[in-house]
Amino acid sequence: MSRPMLIAPSILAADFSRLGDEVRAIDEAGCDWVHVDVMDGHFVPNISFGAIAVKAVRPVTRKILDVHLMIAPCDLFLEEFAAAGADIITVHAEAGPHLDRSLQSIKALGKKAGVSLNPGTPESVLEYVLDRLDLILVMTVNPGFGGQAFIPATAEKVRRIRSMVGGRDIDIQVDGGITPETVPFVAAAGANVFVAGSAVYKGEGVDDYRANISAIRAAAQAAGKD
Ligand code: DX5
Ligand code: ZN
Repeated sequence: MSRPMLIAPSILAADFSRLGDEVRAIDEAGCDWVHVDVMDGHFVPNISFGAIAVKAVRPVTRKILDVHLMIAPCDLFLEEFAAAGADIITVHAEAGPHLDRSLQSIKALGKKAGVSLNPGTPESVLEYVLDRLDLILVMTVNPGFGGQAFIPATAEKVRRIRSMVGGRDIDIQVDGGITPETVPFVAAAGANVFVAGSAVYKGEGVDDYRANISAIRAAAQAAGKD
């Protein structure tokens, strides 16, 4: 049975002078998850925010807070993000030498565990941690910024990971340059959770965001595997 097609807008693209309103707006516009891009200026060449942002938006929405940690080292901060209200905590396979331990720590905190792969990282890194995973995040851009161009070669990696996952209860998420035009490539390859920042936070508010979310979802569903 195919997994539901879920849309996770990235708040990195939101108007930060009105962050709470912007999260309420995507919630009302029908998003499934709220994607929170944490950047440390070390693992990626950009700085966004820490657990304080998760804590700030937690009371604003009941939607799943999907926290993408683009930080290294990551283990030092897992407890803080869990306490701040993250529902899913995703670490990068490239962030340190102890991926299995990081995933165990996230599960021990009672949260869902995800691992993210940069475009240049082969799917083979997943081989020995698959059974710890709730989510696999395939980066479809090099992490660090919103508004970048989708990397078409990543669709093949999604297809291979879909095959590795088999019947396991794991969501396959893609992130970066996802629009109604690019989402078919990765939905057809087997992704079922779609992060979009600039393609959702276009326009003036809830009605525009709802149309943007619907357009991505419709394009994903039209191309998705049954
Ligand atoms: C990039 C982030 C992405 C990014 C998505 O490092 O992980 O979530 O914010 O932004 P768009 O959808 O504009 O590429
Ligand atoms: Zn992200």
